[in-house]
Amino acid sequence: MKYILSPSILAADFARLGEEIKKADAAGAQYLHIDVMDGVFVPSISFGMPVIKAIRSVTDKFFDVHLMIQEPERYIDDFIACGADGITIHAEASKSLIETVDYIKEKGLRAGVSISPNTPVEALFPILDKADMFLIMTVEPGFGGQSYIDSCTSKVKKLHEILLERNMQKDIQVDGGITRDNFSMVLEAGANVIVMGSSIFKGNIEENIKYFLQELHFFQKDHTNE
Ligand code: DX5
Ligand code: ZN
Repeated sequence: MKYILSPSILAADFARLGEEIKKADAAGAQYLHIDVMDGVFVPSISFGMPVIKAIRSVTDKFFDVHLMIQEPERYIDDFIACGADGITIHAEASKSLIETVDYIKEKGLRAGVSISPNTPVEALFPILDKADMFLIMTVEPGFGGQSYIDSCTSKVKKLHEILLERNMQKDIQVDGGITRDNFSMVLEAGANVIVMGSSIFKGNIEENIKYFLQELHFFQKDHTNE
């Protein structure tokens, strides 16, 4: 199992976005998490294709694009064109979940499916063999800087157990309210792709990334035979 840190640029200083991304890149973060919000699926609006296209020129890191938009199938080609490497769509927002996941994969990208805190983990079961990654939201999607919702941990555990049972190698991503205090808890629960906004970009970016990468390294070392 590969353990991956995916800093969410939603918490970066947008006036110095390129610079902050370069810092995250240089500090060794494997992914960059890019939160797109449409003001419909979630109350807030973040940024879209032109911003992603602009930051594509400052880093080669994996662009982990999290679409919090209604009917994401309308925009897959646009996000591919502006440089996404992986696209995650919400099960609650898509009218054609399986077809859209298939389409993202056909285009050579990694496909993720996300569920919000109130959606049961069972909603992912019909696409377990299709998607590459499952994103269990650990806050209500829409804003950075919220507190982790404890009841989401059992969903991560359940999904992890089912994937193990079925011998399926899939990524489990968690997103929202992850801090130094609950970081190892989400890893223990079975998550392996960890999104963090505030815990990385508020404060010293390099130091924060180094800290979390080291924690991932220790965790991986302790769990290599599992
Ligand atoms: C929330 C976004 C998250 C957010 C996480 O809707 O999907 O990616 O940036 O931010 P923190 O880590 O600050 O909770
Ligand atoms: Zn996100």
